[in-house]
Amino acid sequence: MIAKTEEDFNGLKEIGKIVGSIRDELVQKTVPGITTKELDDIAGEMFKREGAVSAPKSEYDFPGHTCISVNDEVAHGIPGSRVISEGDLVNVDVSGSKNGYFADTGISFVVGEGEEILTKICDVAKQAFEAGLKKAKPGSKKSGIGRAVFQTARQNDLTVITNLTGHGIGRTIHEAPDHIYNYKDTFDDELLRDGMVIAFEPFISTLEEEVFQKNDGWTYATEKSFVAQVEHTIILTKTGPIIVTL
Ligand code: CO
Ligand code: CO
Repeated sequence: MIAKTEEDFNGLKEIGKIVGSIRDELVQKTVPGITTKELDDIAGEMFKREGAVSAPKSEYDFPGHTCISVNDEVAHGIPGSRVISEGDLVNVDVSGSKNGYFADTGISFVVGEGEEILTKICDVAKQAFEAGLKKAKPGSKKSGIGRAVFQTARQNDLTVITNLTGHGIGRTIHEAPDHIYNYKDTFDDELLRDGMVIAFEPFISTLEEEVFQKNDGWTYATEKSFVAQVEHTIILTKTGPIIVTL
């Protein structure tokens, strides 16, 4: 959507704050021994308490309030009986709506002490987010964001996932612009606009550049790579981006 009114800005900030707080709570509670279903139940309670609705549930009938992906799983992991262990790479992705406004946020992190490469990809995903954010200006080319993400990955001897992308958001969970790639798409000459609301989510990978979907019909995974993501919902303005999910 293009945020125009004070109501738009406030509505986006409100749901942004809610999904951001659920994300932070789940990161806190992700300790060895807890199951991903127990984490998701905490999120469900928080959505209810805030008078907000989980987007994957309401929009896609996803079997969970949040997406929780562990190790080889990259995105859309289904919360279940899986028990979290020390050293796991975990991604929690929380999206929802309130009063007709949507926000989407996610983070990858390592549980306790983990392999160095896992910490590295999480750090590089944050760097890629910051680099892309600098290019997120009204009037600039949308592809400049992906270019910055790709360059950050390469500078760190890593790569990006090409078939998962950021997206427009606001009045629903996925809307125009359809794709914010993790690389420079030379055919993409779309310009960013004042008030445009995007969910920007770089995916940084150790090796593979594409995810595949598992037989459960939801989970995206890789064969032999680790992938980290950072996602925030952002309103682009002439005076700089407003991150509503901090
Ligand atoms: Co998300
Ligand atoms: Co998203």
